[in-house]
Amino acid sequence: MGRPCRPKRGGGGYSGTGLRRLLGVEFMDIERVGAGLEPPAALVQLLAETERLVVLTGAGISVESGVPTFRGPEGLWRSFRPEELATPQAFQRNPRLVWEWYDWRRAKIAQARPNPGHLALVRLEERVPDFLLLTQNVDGLHRLAGSRRLLEIHGSLWEVRCLSCGAVREDRRVPIPMLPHCGGCGGLLRPHVVWFGEALNPEILRRAEEALIRAQTVLVVGTSAVVQPAASFALWAREAGAAIVEINPDPTPLTRYCRFALAGAAGEVLPRLLSRLEEQPSR
Ligand code: OAD
Repeated sequence: MGRPCRPKRGGGGYSGTGLRRLLGVEFMDIERVGAGLEPPAALVQLLAETERLVVLTGAGISVESGVPTFRGPEGLWRSFRPEELATPQAFQRNPRLVWEWYDWRRAKIAQARPNPGHLALVRLEERVPDFLLLTQNVDGLHRLAGSRRLLEIHGSLWEVRCLSCGAVREDRRVPIPMLPHCGGCGGLLRPHVVWFGEALNPEILRRAEEALIRAQTVLVVGTSAVVQPAASFALWAREAGAAIVEINPDPTPLTRYCRFALAGAAGEVLPRLLSRLEEQPSR
């Protein structure tokens, strides 16, 4: 149990402790160090002292639930071109094709269950007075795990919106009738998700910004940090003085701005981190 962590040597193109110190990043490779790795004491202390925390998650947190990411080797966008499926123009052109794809995703995700990473974030929420979880995921797994202070910034696979009257409703039918229509006005329903070329809901963006600007720490889990505006969230917070902590097996454009970057799977790293945190005396 509990071998001390060692900095990763020469991995991921960031070699040498000098460079790491310069970048302010501690690289570790949980997979390489093996089971029982202890998260650095300084990170546990940082989280223990953090009273205002924002967590940002992406597709990587749902990998251990069996949900594919968008851009990895098994990524969803490998077999489907996003511009054919996830744009308002695509839906206008061929609503059936788009709905069939969403129906396929809904059927897959309906089988998925929250994993230890999702559950660790629920435990983290319980400890931190000012907490907000921002997820780019539309799979609903954070909500199912029990996260409450949560904003699904790209919407939800489990909500539909009427193109005529604008009503948004929960809809968990799998399969969904083709094509689905509004029970109120009969208009065509679309998935209530944010597509390429669409803006985030301004109220959600406002609440996210407020939390980011007052955050002491931003924990970024399982996102490639390439889709805006979420890709910039942690940097906004950093400019206002927050420390960034990243959990991701691979480096991202954010890694160089992190105080701690833990190279490992969210479903393994997060529960271990929470266990250490829960050993700390409560505030
Ligand atoms: P991506 O597929 O772009 O990135 C997934 C990230 O998860 C990568 O950086 C992986 O290295 C990392 N990852 C893989 N396995 C992991 C694990 N077990 N634990 C932790 N991390 C792991 O997904 P997102 O960044 O979420 O937008 O993509 C952002 C947005 O792009 C999505 O919300 C979606 C897509 O277009 C919309 O649909 C609007």
